Amino acid sequence: ESQRRAKELLRKMTVDEKVGQLNQSSGIVMPGFVDQKPDDMIAKGEVGSILWLNNTKEINRLQHIAVDQSRLHIPILFAFDVIHGWRTVFPVPLAMASSWDPSVEEAAQKEAGEDARAAGIRWTFTPMVDIARDSRWGRIMEGAGEDPYLGSAMARAQVYGFQGKSLGPDSELVSVKHFAGYGAAEGGRDYDSSYIPEVLMQNVYLKPFHAAEQAGAGNFMSAYMDLNDVPATGNRWLLTDVLRKDWGFQGFVVSDAFAVASLQVHGFAADPADAALKAINAGLNMDMASLTYTHNLAKLVAEGKVSEATLDKAVLPILAIKYQLGLFDHPYVDDTKTDAVLDRPEGLALERKIAARSMVLLRNENHTLPLTTSAKKIAVIGPLADSIHDIEGGWTVEGLFGGPAKSHPVTVLATLKSRYGANAEITFVPGPQLSRVFPSMLDALTGVKQVPPPTEAEKADWINKTKAATADADLVIAVMGEAASMSGEAASQASMALPGIQQEMLETAVASGKPVVLVLENGRPLDITWASEHVPAILEAWYPGTEGGNAVADVLFGDVNPGGKLPVSWARSVGQEPLYYNHNLTHEPEDRPTFTSRYWDVESKPLYVFGYGLSYTSFNFSNLRLSHDHIRASESTEVSVDVTNTGSVAGDAVAELYIHQRAGSASRPVRQLEGFERVTLKPGETQTVKFTLGKDELEFWSPQTKAWGVEPGAFDVWAGGDSKASLNTLLTVTQ
Ligand code: IFM
Repeated sequence: ESQRRAKELLRKMTVDEKVGQLNQSSGIVMPGFVDQKPDDMIAKGEVGSILWLNNTKEINRLQHIAVDQSRLHIPILFAFDVIHGWRTVFPVPLAMASSWDPSVEEAAQKEAGEDARAAGIRWTFTPMVDIARDSRWGRIMEGAGEDPYLGSAMARAQVYGFQGKSLGPDSELVSVKHFAGYGAAEGGRDYDSSYIPEVLMQNVYLKPFHAAEQAGAGNFMSAYMDLNDVPATGNRWLLTDVLRKDWGFQGFVVSDAFAVASLQVHGFAADPADAALKAINAGLNMDMASLTYTHNLAKLVAEGKVSEATLDKAVLPILAIKYQLGLFDHPYVDDTKTDAVLDRPEGLALERKIAARSMVLLRNENHTLPLTTSAKKIAVIGPLADSIHDIEGGWTVEGLFGGPAKSHPVTVLATLKSRYGANAEITFVPGPQLSRVFPSMLDALTGVKQVPPPTEAEKADWINKTKAATADADLVIAVMGEAASMSGEAASQASMALPGIQQEMLETAVASGKPVVLVLENGRPLDITWASEHVPAILEAWYPGTEGGNAVADVLFGDVNPGGKLPVSWARSVGQEPLYYNHNLTHEPEDRPTFTSRYWDVESKPLYVFGYGLSYTSFNFSNLRLSHDHIRASESTEVSVDVTNTGSVAGDAVAELYIHQRAGSASRPVRQLEGFERVTLKPGETQTVKFTLGKDELEFWSPQTKAWGVEPGAFDVWAGGDSKASLNTLLTVTQ
């Protein structure tokens, strides 16, 4: 029906009106960017969508212009980056992936979608499903980490959370981004070129995109970088051959912001007209913010360089989706109800639960955790312990564009004060504010002032304060990591060291001989090799969101037993990057005696492996068995493993299933995740977790045959609590 109505409408449209639907205008005046005055353009039907506007009244005002004044009354689709919540901010996506629980992502994004709709935003630029194998890349924080299987599960869950099982009036349209290969930027530098052979595109980078497409995603966003020398925004192989022809995608593709214009910067387009021509002919429907389509497309059609059929093909899915979302029938949002929806206490309760579920316990010597409230003197140290600007991480739009955060995040210090109450004395030593070498885009947009790095005298003073506070304490809680603006877009890093003087403060605290708990707030693995040997307890909280402080305390005090697992391999040193567990075996792997694949000075293995995470209890995996240990390539087998809680408290285990094909038409990764399930077990309880190994899990894209298929052969199968699981069996597949 939406298709029919869209086609009918399309027949009435002029070329200019069609081009209008392909333009996504900026709703704000961006310093240094284009000053777009939307009112006139909207009235003339020149705007199909608007982004970066979070003022609900203004959204309604502009919508009225579109519906009341434009000739065909086509409503505008308002879009923004609702990445991990709106006013209630959920943990950053990398954290939610650490839950290894897709239902967490689905629930969070369902809530985020409801909030976005209450604010008038019907389209979110989420999920980011870019595989990231290099922690230097700042945007690793926005995705699900390094693994295509986990990434696909999280991608699907997010599509379902926002859109539901199909697109309708209660859906928030997603944008699956950044299509594709953006996470493989050379050297981890954001926007830099990606060189990815097709074998890796098919078997790794494209997989979560395909999963999102199959889950019904209505929109994709093309990436900024060039893929194998062809910018993604003008890349016909990506936008047409893979997405439409191979996968059958029926929705529309939007560029990343200003990416059509930057086809010229890439040295791919000769001028703006050429950029528009290359983008539309590659299969790009909508131009985000650059007005390159607006200024060039109609002329290109008049000149016959772009056919009207191509133009129609670009416009039709946009109209159809507007119909599917019910925008023609209900273009406005009731702004008197917005705040009531955004401030729902249920949202905060859900956020707290999800944040605690997303944390990863990296180390816990001598049962340092969980804490009791018996300590009488506590030293809280670190610049992130009381920073409301950092605990929610990047992409917190309500805070970013709406002035001071409206979501009132709870810091770790605040929650510790209320937990310990008057019974304990808490001394807080923040240390110097974290400062970046280069101002971040977020800082520039929000007017955050750059602080100069501390002088030597100031550093010495903070170290003395740390010494005094920790010498006198029963317990030290260090909350350290990166400022929120240090990861995310255009925030790549060449060093993974704890920024500022955090390392010195931590070493000073440990030298006090008092128990030290390190809580990390960060968007990427950092160099904590020293801490991993000297700090008795380390909890990875990532950026845990609005209720973050409360959730950290829930875990520290054992109200919640941590069960998160790393979605990334944690490097010992930045020189190991890119680092990922599902690499191939080589001529001489590291564990052979000599002439092996490794560095002289640092082993190749990560500090913490993919899938790793501790609990306050212990688990045993046993009895790994296959329903059939010989199958044909067209068949499947059931894998079962028993998981037992061998400790004395209830807790969550994640059963992880890995496979490796021993020989075939191409080398296959040493291990690849092909199943996982998070289960809760009482002390002494055993549960059997079952997985299926069939075509979807066993097939791969062979660079020899250039096709997907299950190749006969022997497959090692492992199950356990991380990617080093040793419990194994063998599956034989015959033709
Ligand atoms: O969605 C983002 C994208 O990830 C990076 N560039 C800007 C877009 C819109 O805000």
